[in-house]
Amino acid sequence: MIFETHAHYDDDRFEKDRDALLSSLQKQGIERVINVGASIESTKTTLALADAYDFVYAAVGVHPSDIDGLNEESFAWLREQTAGRKVAAVGEIGLDYYWEKDAAVQERQRYWFARQMELAREASLPVIIHSREAAADTLKVLKSVHAEQIPGVIHCYSYSREMAEEFIKMGYYIGVGGVVTFKNAKKLKETVQAIPLERILLETDCPYMAPEPYRGKRNDSSYLPLVLAAIAELRGITPEEVERATEENARRLFVKVR
Ligand code: NI
Repeated sequence: MIFETHAHYDDDRFEKDRDALLSSLQKQGIERVINVGASIESTKTTLALADAYDFVYAAVGVHPSDIDGLNEESFAWLREQTAGRKVAAVGEIGLDYYWEKDAAVQERQRYWFARQMELAREASLPVIIHSREAAADTLKVLKSVHAEQIPGVIHCYSYSREMAEEFIKMGYYIGVGGVVTFKNAKKLKETVQAIPLERILLETDCPYMAPEPYRGKRNDSSYLPLVLAAIAELRGITPEEVERATEENARRLFVKVR
């Protein structure tokens, strides 16, 4: 079975066929899905999806680009949600210096990233981390909160192999999706070849990041076999071995998923 660790099925781009698509996934071998919140609003829609579908679990959290929605009141609401039966992680949280160049806002991103890391620790939940063009500061925040005690994944991994090894040293997993099928994804391919298979998680980040030959189109979890095949080829093993290992990895990390 395929364990999809990062989807956004509450996104508007699934408006027309969301139920048909979600209802078809298990027949296609996608047997667990974590839908990931990225704002207070999308955390609410994520929780609703987890309520509606047995095999869908929720991650609750606020993405660095949406921290304007965070204050003590919304943070307290987020804390209440972490106790939910279907809440498997805090995420996605982190730093995004690709979209945000303002130093003061970047500092606020670090503040709310650290606060949400502490929230995960309190709730004994793993974290799903978004980190773009902010590798050094991500590592700094992780060290400052003793992230080796808070398990998690660096989702849609985009840094070097050496940096991946730093994250793995802290006990982290590396999220791999459609980008690994792109011709020009040299760094990611190198990373996928070098790191232990026990540290790789499978994800789409759908509706974004569709694999080849669908690059640029709307993504969904039914394309994950293309990602499995690319990882298998890079590592010289079978797609079935990658499927089994990535499921085991996901279950080791997301312990609330049944
Ligand atoms: Ni995402």
